[in-house]
Amino acid sequence: MFCPTLNKRPAWKVLEKHRKTLEKTRMRDLFAADSQRFDRFSLSAGGLFLDYSKNRITDNTMPLLYDLAKVCGVEEWRNRMFAGEKINISEDRPVLHTALRRPAGDSVTVDSENIMPFIHGTLSKMEKFSRDVRSGTWKGHTGKKITDIVNIGIGGSDLGPRMVCRALRNEAISEPAVHFVSNVDGTDIQQTLRGLSPETTLFIVASKTFTTQETMANAQTARQWLLSSLKEDKAVARHFTALSVNADAAVSFGIPADNLFPFRDWVGGRYSLWSAIGLSICLEHGFDAFRDLLRGAYEMDTHFRAAPLNRNMPVILALLGIWYRNFWKAQCYAVLPYAQNLSLFPAWLQQVDMESNGKSASRNGNTIFYETGPAIFGTAGTDCQHSFFQLIHQGTDIIPCDFIGVKEPMSPHTGQHKMLLANMAAQGQALMEGRDEKSSVGNPHRSFSGNRPSNTLIMERLDARHLGMLLALYEHKIFVQGIIWSINSFDQWGVELGKILTSDILNGKGALDSSTRGILQRFDIT
Ligand code: F6P
Repeated sequence: MFCPTLNKRPAWKVLEKHRKTLEKTRMRDLFAADSQRFDRFSLSAGGLFLDYSKNRITDNTMPLLYDLAKVCGVEEWRNRMFAGEKINISEDRPVLHTALRRPAGDSVTVDSENIMPFIHGTLSKMEKFSRDVRSGTWKGHTGKKITDIVNIGIGGSDLGPRMVCRALRNEAISEPAVHFVSNVDGTDIQQTLRGLSPETTLFIVASKTFTTQETMANAQTARQWLLSSLKEDKAVARHFTALSVNADAAVSFGIPADNLFPFRDWVGGRYSLWSAIGLSICLEHGFDAFRDLLRGAYEMDTHFRAAPLNRNMPVILALLGIWYRNFWKAQCYAVLPYAQNLSLFPAWLQQVDMESNGKSASRNGNTIFYETGPAIFGTAGTDCQHSFFQLIHQGTDIIPCDFIGVKEPMSPHTGQHKMLLANMAAQGQALMEGRDEKSSVGNPHRSFSGNRPSNTLIMERLDARHLGMLLALYEHKIFVQGIIWSINSFDQWGVELGKILTSDILNGKGALDSSTRGILQRFDIT
């Protein structure tokens, strides 16, 4: 099942050779020679459509990539993940964010327990609580209706729910208003609380571990802010909830067990928006929207499990990513949602992708000698065109792009929607075709080499169901890449050292190099 020497495998070697044959091939010639190219290199899954024809691929390329996926055991590992096997080897845990999206009648066993009743029990609690808060049945300590929710969390306990809340905002009912605080920089919470009333504010402390320094500091500040006004400790029970695996720590903080929405350690932080961590989504958009989000993700799960490799959207995206990262040495990958409501999608994806696949040790602990996860970046279009697109069009590196467009307008300004989508389509064409010097009147500054790859994903509309599909699509893409690269996509040891050194600095412990000492002295932190 392991493929520890991936770059020595015959399937890899064949791809290396194949790439050499494509060195001089131009995509615009491939399009000119083949009127069916778009039809052959595109597919639909549910309400998502993927055009991958603007890639440096011929009819021979994809079968070779599917062979690579097969010899690396993508299908077997996929089945092991869904079955709840402990594929997160370094933490000895199953990887079961997909179970959070499954219907109640299913059965998924972890350590002899069917976890589906636990999952649906938590969902029922989230449903009741969000309905009570939104209807005003849940009252603050002084008997007033909650008007503002503040989600305190960071990383996966922030980026996922923050992005979904923003993405669905057109459907939102304005009350309660949901705010997010993540940074340990005190200005984040200070500016968020400005203008809010302690009597009508509810805090969600979202932390899988309930030990994360930033979140704990912000939660303490929030509690002081609340109690300095409401005076009585028992006010905490009406104004604080916790979303965590660590019930004891939440209770020690003073949050009653009744206000705890639990999940389990088989949900990775960056995959946790589907768990209790999604409570802020239920509070802003209603539980029905959250249920639709789960349903959309479940549809993508079903597609990922059932579709053959050559019709499997996450597999195709993953293999194209590997094609550029490993065979064309692309170091970066741009994700470009042409939808203002998806403006936080790149930030969410950055954590999911880079924390999952930014690894250089293989699953069995060997150092890896091939490239793994690329640097992911992106901004919503059309803003991206006026910031970093110059480099994508004329820079010296290949930066593969994913364009994401939404068919149904998200505002009444339908003329602007047409402009938005025309911009997106034009960028893909410009990247692919380029413009040679002749038509740029012999001016190299004005010439475009073209042959720059992109995928275009089209969503029917930006509602909870389609969003759920989109997010699960990228989760599974990342999974497939991790399997092929033979890494564990589900641990994150790389974030630990900085945490330890921060705590050493704050406790005046540990040896400091002269640069770090000098910096701290300049800050008067010694
Ligand atoms: O950044 C490291 C990390 O562990 C992420 O994986 C996680 O999403 C984030 O910190 C927050 O962790 P927690 O939910 O435990 O506060």
